[in-house]
Amino acid sequence: MDKSKRGWWRRAVIYQVYPKSFMDSDGDGLGDLGGIIGKLDYLAQLGIDGIWLSPVYASPQEDNGYDISDYRAIWPPFGTMEDMERLISEARRRGISIIMDMVLNHTSREHRWFKEALRGRDNPYHDYYVWRDGVPGTPPNDMRACFGGSAWEYVPELGQYYFHQFAVGQPDLNWDNPRVREELYDMIRFWVEKGVEGFRLDVIDSIAKEPDRKITARGQNLHRYIRELSANAFREEGLVTVGEAWSADVEEAKEYSSPDGRELSMIFQFEHNFADCVGGDKWRLDRLSLPKLKGILERWQRGLHGCGWNSLFWNNHDMPRIVSRWGDEGRYRVESAKMLATALHGLQGTPYIFEGEEIGMTNIRLPIEEYEDIETRNLYRERVAAGESPEAVMESVYARSRDNARTPMQWTSGPNAGFTAGTPWFKVNPNYTEINAEAALRDPDSVFHYYRRLIALRKEYEVIAEGDFTLLCPEDERVFAYVRGVPGERLLVVCNFTPETVEWSAPEEFEGARTLISNYPSRAGTLRPYEAEMMLL
Ligand code: GLC
Repeated sequence: MDKSKRGWWRRAVIYQVYPKSFMDSDGDGLGDLGGIIGKLDYLAQLGIDGIWLSPVYASPQEDNGYDISDYRAIWPPFGTMEDMERLISEARRRGISIIMDMVLNHTSREHRWFKEALRGRDNPYHDYYVWRDGVPGTPPNDMRACFGGSAWEYVPELGQYYFHQFAVGQPDLNWDNPRVREELYDMIRFWVEKGVEGFRLDVIDSIAKEPDRKITARGQNLHRYIRELSANAFREEGLVTVGEAWSADVEEAKEYSSPDGRELSMIFQFEHNFADCVGGDKWRLDRLSLPKLKGILERWQRGLHGCGWNSLFWNNHDMPRIVSRWGDEGRYRVESAKMLATALHGLQGTPYIFEGEEIGMTNIRLPIEEYEDIETRNLYRERVAAGESPEAVMESVYARSRDNARTPMQWTSGPNAGFTAGTPWFKVNPNYTEINAEAALRDPDSVFHYYRRLIALRKEYEVIAEGDFTLLCPEDERVFAYVRGVPGERLLVVCNFTPETVEWSAPEEFEGARTLISNYPSRAGTLRPYEAEMMLL
């Protein structure tokens, strides 16, 4: 793939590595850069084009690295800057780009800028953060932090509150200060010079916050700042940029991902991720309404076709495992993992695979004390204190905790799933004896090899990368079916989202169409449990 050309990512598939949980090369129980380098051949075999690397920077790890204390240094347990340079060049040698996760909305409170800021109101770094005068016990307003509690933290020495949208240890940067913006652009150029070929921009829709108006996402300067960021830091042709934008709707996504390249290549939006949530509360899951999910995907597919670009994902480090959520962890684990992959990889956009998804890893259930995630722990504490029963809160945790995604990668059926020779930093899912990469590589019918084939198909067929989208049977509660088309090629994708056999017949024009991929060895005339197929005309 020629990555010097703008838009190379239109046929690319990106793989997310959560470094702490991917592979430990030195026996300290934590994944590290050496571990990733050692698995590059595995990733090359899968056929991915880029690695989105969750943060590896120096950090006190209050939020697993999303609290950065030095943007230009590697967290020592992950390795050194030399290791990072080696990862970039070894990946590139295999045609894999490194896409760094950039947290530009906030730093850690351990960052030098924040420590300087604490020294006094006259310190030049003070205005790098968002402060309001106040007295103890009366924060400037009632805004809440995403991880619980007030969004304001009092600093007695200054007689001021600082603003934090996430944890107390993650003070928000003040993007209205031009020096902050310049520092960040400069730092990004540092990584581009090292050979990094893209960036995932953490909560980018929050940078233009206006706390006095209680605005976090979509502040009035948001797109002005993103354009300035893009012009100053992403000038390099061929860089791929993906902004995390929880607040985006289709209209706004056109602006973010406009093909003129003024802003970003694409965004992560999460509307589909709420298709099974009660009242938009991600902690209250209901049964998935397939018509609702299909409607959302259709709106995004059609909305951005020709005028923007979608990212495609079921999973990341903040979400539960898709097989456990919309598939079947038990008898049909393999079929349902492949079906979900088909449903997503037939769409237009850039697919993202989260580590372990390609072998069909599942959620985990632990006693509350064993959860590591700050969001999960705070949520449990807050909801139980508010009078909810611990059992009910645990049901939410099992279904939704971010730690479902963060258990160590399951490489082998050996001790600790082959993830570490030491004591793993976080519980390994006990099902590793059955679900692991070694077994998947050996089995030609595994979820892994299915993903590998899906990735190859996107490169081969114009219709998968560029085709338009027509949803079939929108009201059907069991089947997700759609047609993609470019002149001369038509693709039908059919997915049974249930463990039942469903009567369904393809539109006549597809009679006699060629199967590109399917999770059952031959056609039956009905759709068997979790059956999926892509057919080409
Ligand atoms: C994003 C990250 C998440 C992190 C948060 C704060 O949502 O994906 O893991 O906790 O931002 O940086």
